[in-house]
Amino acid sequence: MSYEIATIPGDGIGPEVVEATLPLFERVAEAQNIDVEFTRYGWGSERYLEEGAMMPDDGLERIEDSDAILLGAVGHPDVPDHVTLHGLLLPIRKQFNQQVCKRPSILFEGVESPLRGYEGGDVEFVVYRENTEGEYADVGGREHVGFDHEVAVQSAVFTRQGTEAILRAAFEAAQEREGHLTSITKSNAQAYSMVFWDDVVEEVREDYPDVEVESLLVDAASMDLIRRPEEFDVIVASNLFGDVLTDIGAIVTGSMGLAPSGNINRSGTYPSMFEPVHGSAPDITGQGVANPTATVLSGAMLFEELGENQASEALWNAVRDVLADESAPTPPDLGGSASTEEMVEAFEERV
Ligand code: NAD
Ligand code: IPM
Ligand code: MN
Repeated sequence: MSYEIATIPGDGIGPEVVEATLPLFERVAEAQNIDVEFTRYGWGSERYLEEGAMMPDDGLERIEDSDAILLGAVGHPDVPDHVTLHGLLLPIRKQFNQQVCKRPSILFEGVESPLRGYEGGDVEFVVYRENTEGEYADVGGREHVGFDHEVAVQSAVFTRQGTEAILRAAFEAAQEREGHLTSITKSNAQAYSMVFWDDVVEEVREDYPDVEVESLLVDAASMDLIRRPEEFDVIVASNLFGDVLTDIGAIVTGSMGLAPSGNINRSGTYPSMFEPVHGSAPDITGQGVANPTATVLSGAMLFEELGENQASEALWNAVRDVLADESAPTPPDLGGSASTEEMVEAFEERV
């Protein structure tokens, strides 16, 4: 098979982790006889600073026929975050109808959790995050700007179709995993959107009688992800809650540098996008020390989405092997001193 992957390295450590990992992906593809071309798009904040836009006007059209998208990170200290993110990352998720965001959190062998008493293999859950609406809906505005009576309104939007789509994806995942689904809401305070969400859970669960459903409020869930992360299997949450919970998931399983994600278009009408959960990390940009593992695993998820399961497995296994091997390089975020390149070399040796 042959594939074309629109590749957007983006900002900060994005280009560092993407450029380092592309040769690894090419090597894995070659070993599996997969013909894959990574077409680079130099879109991002540098472009914004020079040309006034994060991507060209027809940017989305240029990449809509690609088989998948690989993205590094977006965000620059010199440009407001809402400008950069609304100029590149968020339009891709929304315009390409990537309604399902899938984010696994795995405590790998050889990785130390900041939580006492946890060892590799103890924690393994996946968050299904609604990805195109909810609290991220582009509905609202500011009035009377600059006056004492200035007002800002930001409305959340929950559609039945969007809510059902994320719930069904999560139920299906639970069926394939341990059959346990945790729905995370704030229904005690948000009596419209979140009670609607709960109602849709009650309807949809009829179709998945073998899945055990637990419902948690997001405040308690944040606590429980730290107190008892081993008990979670599949978690489903709204856009904002899923965003927050997946940073918790990343850190309790070791580091932001390990957490991959997939933004999935369920119908296949548009490409899906794969990217690390982390951002552009300006605090370590340019030092060559960003952990590329989250990008490698995002690539593994990308190959899986393409149906290239052997290539995907090869990447997952390389990561598992390197992290478990005490003599293998360890990056600074996991307590070592290996560079981005040294990590990728270690993965390359094992594929
Ligand atoms: P961040 O994820 O960039 O960084 C948080 C912390 O994690 C930092 O200490 C950073 O050094 C560390 N970290 C992140 N990735 C790492 C890696 N691969 N290896 C080692 N350490 C890593 O979050 P932030 O600092 O809140 O955001 C920085 C910028 O990125 C902001 O502009 C933000 O809007 C943007 N952002 C973008 C995305 C995205 O593109 N998907 C995601 C999150 C944040
Ligand atoms: C993420 C990021 C983005 C989000 C930001 C940068 C808009 O935090 O992918 O987790 O909130 O979705
Ligand atoms: Mn986030």
